[in-house]
Parts: sequence; C-alpha cells; structure tokens
Amino acid sequence: MTNYREIQAPLRTIMTPGPVEVDPRVLRAMSTPILGQFDPAFTTMMNETMDMLRQVFQTNNKWAFPIDGTSRSGLEAVLCSVIEPGDRVLVPIFGRFGHLLTEIAERCGADVHLMECPWGQVFDQQAVIEEVRRIQPKVLAIVHGETSTGCMQPLDQIGPACRELGVLTVVDAVATLGGTPVKVDEWQLDAVIGGTQKCLSVPSGMAPITYNEGIEKLLLTRKKVERGVAQEQDRLEVRVPIRSNYFDLSQLQDYWGPRRLNHHTEATSMLYALREGVRIVLEEGLEARFERHRLHERALMAGIRGMGLELFNDVPWKAPMVTCVKIPAAINGESVRQMLLEQFGIEIASSFGPLHGQIWRIGTMGYSCRKENVLFVLSALEAVLIRHQAKIEVGRGMQAALDAYGVERAAN
Ligand SMILES: Cc1ncc(COP(=O)(O)O)c(C=O)c1O
Repeated sequence: MTNYREIQAPLRTIMTPGPVEVDPRVLRAMSTPILGQFDPAFTTMMNETMDMLRQVFQTNNKWAFPIDGTSRSGLEAVLCSVIEPGDRVLVPIFGRFGHLLTEIAERCGADVHLMECPWGQVFDQQAVIEEVRRIQPKVLAIVHGETSTGCMQPLDQIGPACRELGVLTVVDAVATLGGTPVKVDEWQLDAVIGGTQKCLSVPSGMAPITYNEGIEKLLLTRKKVERGVAQEQDRLEVRVPIRSNYFDLSQLQDYWGPRRLNHHTEATSMLYALREGVRIVLEEGLEARFERHRLHERALMAGIRGMGLELFNDVPWKAPMVTCVKIPAAINGESVRQMLLEQFGIEIASSFGPLHGQIWRIGTMGYSCRKENVLFVLSALEAVLIRHQAKIEVGRGMQAALDAYGVERAAN
C-alpha cells in the first residue's frame, strides 16, 4: 500500500488574476471547529456575513449571500433562477467570460442575442443601450471585469437605462468585487455576482451574490419547495419551476432568511473564510482598498514599461487588478512562465482564445496586491527575460516601479 505523505504545498507568490494568495487570517478562520448549519452560533455568522456583503456590494438589497460552488455557481444560480426557456437574453461579449454567460444562458433555454467587440475593447454604453432597445430582452447579462483581457466595462449608464426599459441586469463582478467600486445600487443593477478567489482573497469555493426585490418577485413566481421539506404554505405545483434544485435561489433564500428552511448542507469552513475575508475588506475600508489596488497597478505598469515591454491593456478602461503584457516577438511565453515558477516560485497567467500565446496576465488582487510582490515579480521577470535573450531595458523596470512607489534615492 502506498503511504501518502502529509500535504506539503510549496510556498508561491501568486500573481495571476485568480486564484490569488489567501490572507493568513482567512486560513486561520478556516481551521475553526465545525458548527451545525442551524446552530444559532452559526446562523449568527451567516447573518453577519450577509450584512458585510451588503456593504461590499454597496447595496441595501435584502438579499446578499454566497452560493456554495466556484464563481460560476453564482452566475448559474442567478441565470437559471431568472431565465425561463424561451426568454430573450442579450449578452455583450468582450472576452472569455461573456462566452461563459452565453453558455449558461443557452443551457437555461434562453433565446440568446449577442453583441461582440474585439478582445481588448469594451462597449460604448450607448451602443449597448441601443441594442437593449432593439432586442427588448428580459435580461441583459454582462461582465464587469474581463479577466481574460484585463478590461472593465463601465455600467453606470447601462444600469439605469435598463431599469427604465424594464430589462433586468445580471452582472459578473467576479474579478472586480473588493478591488474596485461595484456600485450595485447607484448603477441600478438587479443581480450581481462576485468571486471569492480574486480581490476578496478567500479560496475558491463560494460565490457571493446580491439581488433586489424585482428579482425576488420573479423567483417567487417560480418557487417550488422540495417535497421532503415543504410545509402547508408551500406550493408544489408552479407553471415553470426553476429547473435546478441546487441553484434554486427561491429555496436558498429560505435557508438564508429567518425561515431557515433546510436546503443543502452549508459549506461551514468556506463560510468562516468568506466572513473573515469580507471583515478584512471592511476593516481596510473600501476606498482605501480600491486605492491600494490602483497604487500597485501603477507601480507594476511603470515597471513593465520601464523594462521596455508593451502593455496590452494600456487603455482608459483597464481593470486595475489585471495587467496584460504583450509577449515580445520570438519569446516563448510558456517557457518564461515556467522559469518564473520553477526558479522563483512565482505564478503569472497566460490567456485564452485569440489572446492565447499573445499576452501574459499579471494579477494584483487582494492579499497578493502588495509592494513586495510587485517588486519581486518585476525583478524575476527581468531576470527570466534576460535568460531568454529578450531585448529589454535592463535595470530600468525596477527603478521605474520604485519611483512609482515614491522611494527616495539615498544620498551617498
Ligand atoms: C470574470 C470571471 N467570471 C467568471 C469566472 C468563473 O469563475 P470560477 O472559475 O470560479 O467558476 C472567472 C474565473 O476566472 C472570471 O474571471
């Protein structure tokens, strides 16, 4: 019989656009002893987490709670609870994750209409609004921060216009929540999905979501409670029940609400993790946290430019937590990533689809978004590029980053 040894994970510097390094406080919280899912000590933590999530989402919505599963579980829970077969859904696609929204909506039986723009661009908000007017969908499903391209779609005009037109907005803020403003109420967004393993610096395995009364009303028309837990007040026959049991928001909210109606067994340790993660976000303060993400983004960009490399997303719509670097001609991007990992223990990412092999993506998210990480990745990248005979400005990148951090030159 093989004797498997205890886990010995190497210590890494994770500078991808997720998953990123987890705050040690979150890891500690995860080792808290398990509680039963109806234990008042646990349900109190659930309520506290909901309360903190509302603040992170900048909303007064009653409903803000996590779905158990990776970020796409949040997308799937919202879309499959809202979309009935045949419903018209409009998806503007500007990278990989717009395709994911499309894929999920199609599997829900939606009549999906697409808008596409080249990867690296985002949409003019008026163009999206015009398309919403023309298509008249029930739902506009759109990504806020595209991790595949490092671009961020403005939503401040799209949300209010959709509200006026009676179109529901479902927004993937998986990459952006906790790293840049996601103003659910101000932008009048109906349902928003965040991610844990990105700017919240919690492991992958939960998806915080929020939705408003309009969405709740819709859910209640499709609510069908599982027979084994249903009570007299629960209807068992509905016209078009939500197709998924696991992702049925109408039942999930009955567990997260005062009724505490049993659904699946809550992922206790992940809830401890999320509670600590959002507690840390609020302790730092939203504004301070967003400014920290901007600061390290500026230093990283300065370092990359200083080295003589070209940025792919040097655009006004750049997402602050993802910096994309064009892989210099004749350089094997995968070999560079491999040397970074093997020699320095640093992980950066490649990209997908049309950008595969074209760019590296460097994340500055949550706990990974620190000065020492930025300086380490820049110095290691320079060393590795020299080893690959790339033509770079040796020594300039680090100095530019130190300048961006305002580090004084010492007098001799
Ligand atoms: C913008 C965006 N949406 C959705 C997802 C899917 O998340 P998960 O892999 O956690 O299901 C990701 C993951 O990278 C993402 O970056």
